[in-house]
Amino acid sequence: MYAELSNELLTGNKTIDSQHQELIDKINDLIKSCETSKEQTTALRTLDYLSDYTNFHFKAEEELQKKAEYPGMAKHLEQHRSFKKSIQELYEMLQEEEGPSPRFAEAVEKNVVEWLYTHIQGFDRSVAEYINMTTNAERL
Ligand SMILES: [Fe+2]
Repeated sequence: MYAELSNELLTGNKTIDSQHQELIDKINDLIKSCETSKEQTTALRTLDYLSDYTNFHFKAEEELQKKAEYPGMAKHLEQHRSFKKSIQELYEMLQEEEGPSPRFAEAVEKNVVEWLYTHIQGFDRSVAEYINMTTNAERL
């Protein structure tokens, strides 16, 4: 099943939301590559794109938190580190299983899609709320 940026995943922060959409597009490219082509190289390439974009997006989110002096930053960074580890494990799985196996597709669903949904709803929403609150307070 493809991932989707539904309304309950919107944070209200334009930068974060548009990057999440892009991230979800990359995830769907990976899911599609598992379904349509069983080739290891195709899955590897889409995983590379996802990995690169993840690094870009996490960095941007971390910059926003730093700028806003967000108090929950350390915990949030821990979450980002654990996701990057999951991506690393997907690379290992692709090597071990010589391509996108059903086990691989399951890991994408659980460790990428489900993780992202939970992360956005808890962690990213708090960041967006905090930024929104502090910047509005400054304007008053
Ligand atoms: Fe995040």
